[in-house]
Amino acid sequence: MADPNTDPKPDSRINQNASLKYWNSVNPTADGMLGGYAQISTIDLRGSSAFLSKVRRLNPSTGSARIQRAVDCGAGIGRITEGFLSRVCETVDIVEPVEKFVDAIRRGKLHKEGKIGDIYVVGLENWTPTHTYDLIWNQWCTNHLTDAQLVEYLIRCKNALSETGLLVVKENTNSDWTKDHYDEVDSTVTRTEGKFLELFEEAGLKVLRSEEQMGFPQRLMLLPVRSWALRPAT
Ligand SMILES: C[S@@+](CC[C@H](N)C(=O)[O-])C[C@H]1O[C@@H](n2cnc3c(N)ncnc32)[C@H](O)[C@@H]1O
Repeated sequence: MADPNTDPKPDSRINQNASLKYWNSVNPTADGMLGGYAQISTIDLRGSSAFLSKVRRLNPSTGSARIQRAVDCGAGIGRITEGFLSRVCETVDIVEPVEKFVDAIRRGKLHKEGKIGDIYVVGLENWTPTHTYDLIWNQWCTNHLTDAQLVEYLIRCKNALSETGLLVVKENTNSDWTKDHYDEVDSTVTRTEGKFLELFEEAGLKVLRSEEQMGFPQRLMLLPVRSWALRPAT
């Protein structure tokens, strides 16, 4: 039985090379991106779209105006860009470390239509934004970063936001409130909601709105998925 007092911090076990090896073995399909649960994609995308609309309505100057430049971080094959971001944004940049997923995006319709902006084939821990963004979307990928890397990354994102820009994190959370959990399949850490809040605060971010994604079939027994919309605290 693991002893939380003597075990190393779960995030210290993250090995980004092992993660890349895992993801390189996964098919470049929605099913691959969602661990065999492609059927939840539509519900997820609808939930994200509704969440973003609610957050943008909090600021009368953004409201329902089109978003100029967004970035889909840990984008995989561009499931979120295709199903949601490209509908509300003029240009979507991509950050994704796995070449074969990026190739799928490059071959896709959105790339041909000029909706995809710059593509960065790199992990978030090594990515520094060079544009100013109205929206930085991070979904199901910040679990690949250690706590320290995540704080540093969030600070870089915070510094790249436009005046009304939003940083969104949408992630699995640990239903056990007391500790993070290391998963050796893809070498990730599932964090508690409390840990996310600590890391956001450490990065100088405040939560504008937070919401649990509802509507996934109960029989799938998925972990709770939570979205946070963040802005610089000062
Ligand atoms: C569960 S998939 C989610 C993909 C996409 N966000 C979605 O929701 O469809 C996780 C993605 O994170 C990517 N990834 C792995 N290590 C990463 C890292 N260090 N930085 C950014 N993304 C990473 C994987 O290659 C994969 O595309």
